[in-house]
Amino acid sequence: MRAVLIQEPGGPEVLRLGEVPDPAPAPGEILVRVRATALNRADLLQRQGLYPPPPGVPPQIPGLEFAGCVEAAGAAVTAFQPGQRVMGLLPGAGYAEKVVTLERLALPLPDGLSFQEAAAIPEVFLTAFDALELQGGLGPGQTLLLHGAGSGVGTAALQLCRLTGATSIGTSRSRTKLDRCLELGLDHAVLTQREDFRDAVLELTGGSGVDLILDMVGAAYLEQNLSCLAPRGLLILIGLLGGPSAPIDLSRILKQSLRIRGTVLRPRPVEEKIRLNQKFRRRILPSFQNGVLTPIIDRVFPLEQAAEAHSFMERNRNFGKIVLAV
Ligand SMILES: NC(=O)c1ccc[n+]([C@@H]2O[C@H](COP(=O)([O-])OP(=O)(O)OC[C@H]3O[C@@H](n4cnc5c(N)ncnc54)[C@H](OP(=O)(O)O)[C@@H]3O)[C@@H](O)[C@H]2O)c1
Repeated sequence: MRAVLIQEPGGPEVLRLGEVPDPAPAPGEILVRVRATALNRADLLQRQGLYPPPPGVPPQIPGLEFAGCVEAAGAAVTAFQPGQRVMGLLPGAGYAEKVVTLERLALPLPDGLSFQEAAAIPEVFLTAFDALELQGGLGPGQTLLLHGAGSGVGTAALQLCRLTGATSIGTSRSRTKLDRCLELGLDHAVLTQREDFRDAVLELTGGSGVDLILDMVGAAYLEQNLSCLAPRGLLILIGLLGGPSAPIDLSRILKQSLRIRGTVLRPRPVEEKIRLNQKFRRRILPSFQNGVLTPIIDRVFPLEQAAEAHSFMERNRNFGKIVLAV
């Protein structure tokens, strides 16, 4: 089969299409003919040699999600049959014509969604669902501060926030992205190039701060984040795009009973991922069927142009997901 290979650690130019043997499904696994996959920031780090996949996953093929058709089922597979449309998370090797996955990690494609739309769902919607609902306990009457609101994760999170009945405040460095977020249901937009988001949040919340922050920036936003969390508020870190280390004023955390939590999907034990998948299937998947939730796609590149797609993401150009058609 054809797959995108990382020739050596480096820039987007190290990605080349090559030939590799087809994967074979083990017991409990399905072999999927991939029709679309999508980019994630982790792929850029993996390409640079900074984020190796878990043991057993080919390190030279990036890709954390897929949508396609079941081509064959391994022994003891009961939930899926050849020909069925499926999507799901992968620990790697998604930029390829075929992938194998545990059937318990696969999800049926909601009716009415194309493969390209479905490929834009797993990583960002599972991340946002897990962070906001399962870990953050976000609910009606609460307020979420969402950084990078126009990102893949951000566009998923703001829709899930709307679904829970909570109020969303989103930040971005781009006015255009914020305008599109408002169209998608974001309640309040803050352009970080223009105003201090801490001041904006305190003004919007009447000085009380937000209950939950979903943050992918890290160090550069830490101090401001802590100063606009409500007492007992929770800061969930999902990325470190603005750096990994910053000084921290522990007195505020102590006095206000604040909480900081980091979370990553890929290295989790497989049973944990399966439980998350099952909860997502029951609680969230039906909302794609009835159009309440929509995968947001900026653009689709052919698999052959994975290098151009990486370069596009590195320049922060995308609103929502970048998909690769396979
Ligand atoms: N923990 C997990 O399990 C998990 C899972 C999926 C993703 N993630 C992480 O979530 C983050 C978003 O992923 P994605 O796929 O949604 O990425 P994406 O669509 O490429 O968006 C990244 C966003 O980050 C913002 N950004 C980049 N550098 C920044 C900086 N220095 N300061 C402030 N904002 C900055 C940009 O926002 P503006 O240009 O609009 O300001 C951009 O829209 C990444 O860090 C990714 O690694 C984590």
